[in-house]
Amino acid sequence: MDNRPIGVFDSGIGGLSGVRELKRELNNESIVYFGDTARTPYGDKSPETIRQYTCQITDFLASKGVKMLVIACNTITALCLDVLRERYPDIPVVGIIAPTAKYMAQRENKHNIGVIATKATINSGLYTKLLIESGVKTEVFAKATPILVPIIEGGFAEGVVAETITKHYLDEMVNKNKIGSLILGCTHYPFVEQAIRTNYPELEIINPATVLSKEVKKLLIENDMAAEDTNTPEYLFCASDLSPTFKDIVSRINPDGRYTLECQSVENY
Ligand code: DGL
Repeated sequence: MDNRPIGVFDSGIGGLSGVRELKRELNNESIVYFGDTARTPYGDKSPETIRQYTCQITDFLASKGVKMLVIACNTITALCLDVLRERYPDIPVVGIIAPTAKYMAQRENKHNIGVIATKATINSGLYTKLLIESGVKTEVFAKATPILVPIIEGGFAEGVVAETITKHYLDEMVNKNKIGSLILGCTHYPFVEQAIRTNYPELEIINPATVLSKEVKKLLIENDMAAEDTNTPEYLFCASDLSPTFKDIVSRINPDGRYTLECQSVENY
């Protein structure tokens, strides 16, 4: 049994969709979250910069004594998973892409699969590679949708702006490529799920954060690292900029108000 917190991180608010799922799956685990809201988006940056920023974040989380590092960010998973596993040999590091690919391969997929994600994630080719390697037989169509993160961080995840932009990105995939399932390959995108559903009510939407939370639970149990049932969890939400959107989403996923907010720069880590 291990009551130390889990470290969860992302380039900004996206990983909060991961925290929402983790809290549903594991209600006695403490969490320290870091969102790099001052430097988001990462998806348009070079691999070197993404790696540099990520190591600053994870050194900060390691200094908080986390028992596990959960990468609630597809872009960071695509570019930094190996670097992080090497950097912290004593802390399990969990990425979001491989468990999602495995999950998709275990189901019967009747239609083609679409993946939308940041430029960096799509350019890495990792989703398509792992979906095929895991045994997915249907066709996979992957597309970079870079405008979504800025509109979500800017507080426009709901309504006509999000509906228009998601339609612009998805029409070809749905109508020409005939996808039946869409993987939201960026943890920011669950916040525009409703906007996507408005235009494509038939489309099955896959949220990798749900798969990730189940993977974290499995690993905690397998490694005898889960918190005691009697543990009272603590939630610390750190961001490099405590933006209004960050504060708003944190308060929505913690309706009981039992959490601490901290403005934290990680540049010196
Ligand atoms: N939320 C992130 C992801 O899952 C990255 C968004 C960004 O900073 O571009 O890929």
